Amino acid sequence: MTEQIVIFDHPLIQHKISLLRKKETGTNEFRALVEEIAMLMGYEALRDLPLKYVEVTTPIETCMTPMITGRKLAVVPILRAGLGMVNGILALVPSAKVGHIGLYRDEVTHEPHEYYCKLPSPIEERTILVTDPMLATGGSAVAAVDFIKKHGGKRIKFMSIIAAPEGLNRLKQAHPDIQIYIGHLDRCLNRDAYICPGLGDAGDRIFGTK
Ligand code: PRP
Ligand code: URA
Repeated sequence: MTEQIVIFDHPLIQHKISLLRKKETGTNEFRALVEEIAMLMGYEALRDLPLKYVEVTTPIETCMTPMITGRKLAVVPILRAGLGMVNGILALVPSAKVGHIGLYRDEVTHEPHEYYCKLPSPIEERTILVTDPMLATGGSAVAAVDFIKKHGGKRIKFMSIIAAPEGLNRLKQAHPDIQIYIGHLDRCLNRDAYICPGLGDAGDRIFGTK
């Protein structure tokens, strides 16, 4: 039975998250780290991909051996910052399809606003891995999963590098049927709904804006 919430304690993931947090870490290094962490987390998050035994002939003999089966994975980043995690997952599953959900947080209300959605079909037959480096109030994550479910998505996993307890609780209450993978659970949100200690604005740090 897969756990509903996995919070990683692997030293490689923890080390790389610490480098991400440093304010001196520049855009190039930040991007590379986000991708590497996504790959390390993805390795665990995808451990229940379905396998089927197929016949393969080795230089020695023919044998039955397991290969990933069924409809391919869909990776669905929440724009913008979730995009930074996509290549890390594609390094593991190059044949995965990629959907996009565009959401931005209103700076005053902190509520998410949707501006784009395109999902690979048939979405109901795929394992869907939603990526976003930050789970703060949880508004964006809940809205993205609501949206995917409305379009027929069923087997949904959500992967975030840093979460605040407030966002994690909100997401697991709103969607108790999804699996949630968190790189590190931070202390709390500040008055501007930024994660403390966090890493600042993930989108701006990945894309070099602001
Ligand atoms: C950030 C982040 C999440 C969201 C998390 O995106 O990438 O999507 O905030 O906050 P929440 O849990 O309170 O909803 P932002 O809205 O800043 O957009 P961006 O990725 O385009 O910078
Ligand atoms: N979005 C971010 O990018 N960082 C936070 O700390 C909270 C929301």
